Amino acid sequence: KRAVVFISGGGSNMMALVAAAKAADYPAEIVGVIADKADAGGLAKAAAEGIPSFAFVRKDYASKEAHEEAIFAALDRLSPDILCLAGYMRLLSGVFIQRYEGRMINIHPSLLPLFPGLHTHQRAIDAGMRIAGCTVHFVTEGMDEGPVIGQAAVPILSGDSAESLAARVLTVEHQLYPQALRLLAESKVKMEGGKAVSTDAA
Ligand code: GRF
Repeated sequence: KRAVVFISGGGSNMMALVAAAKAADYPAEIVGVIADKADAGGLAKAAAEGIPSFAFVRKDYASKEAHEEAIFAALDRLSPDILCLAGYMRLLSGVFIQRYEGRMINIHPSLLPLFPGLHTHQRAIDAGMRIAGCTVHFVTEGMDEGPVIGQAAVPILSGDSAESLAARVLTVEHQLYPQALRLLAESKVKMEGGKAVSTDAA
């Protein structure tokens, strides 16, 4: 299966997917990387891996629609089966989501449905949680609320800061995301009736 990864920053999750996809038995290949910032650190990393990488900067386009149209044109050329949002800090329009619903996933640094949105680690600490973690989910119209494919938890330790917790969560993100993409690429999970359904695919 052909996967395109969307980033806005350093792309450590994108690189985890790239590394996993190098395994001979991995059911997906990363065929492109798209960023919404020309200086996203992940673009250079993708290019160094020989992966076609593109920046589509919102302010270069007259409207959100025009911005997305440019991205759609690049996607039509890359013909992905799956889109992986990985630190992509932009909300997609309904048109975009409908176009890829069921084959577009995202990683979010909390155990959804807890803590959708931003500053998830500080919020978990402030709430007195004893665990934190990350979620890979199908992308739907609402932000961070699509059907869950996989989750990974880590302890919140006394004295943790948002930064120390973020680092611990990021480590398990890099394990979870490749596992979740494998499930989708092998059709072992699919989105059906607004739910993530495990299939008994061979
Ligand atoms: C990660 O915490 C991810 O969960 C969130 O964006 C952060 C940066 O990810 N979506 P990356 O290093 O750019 O992959």
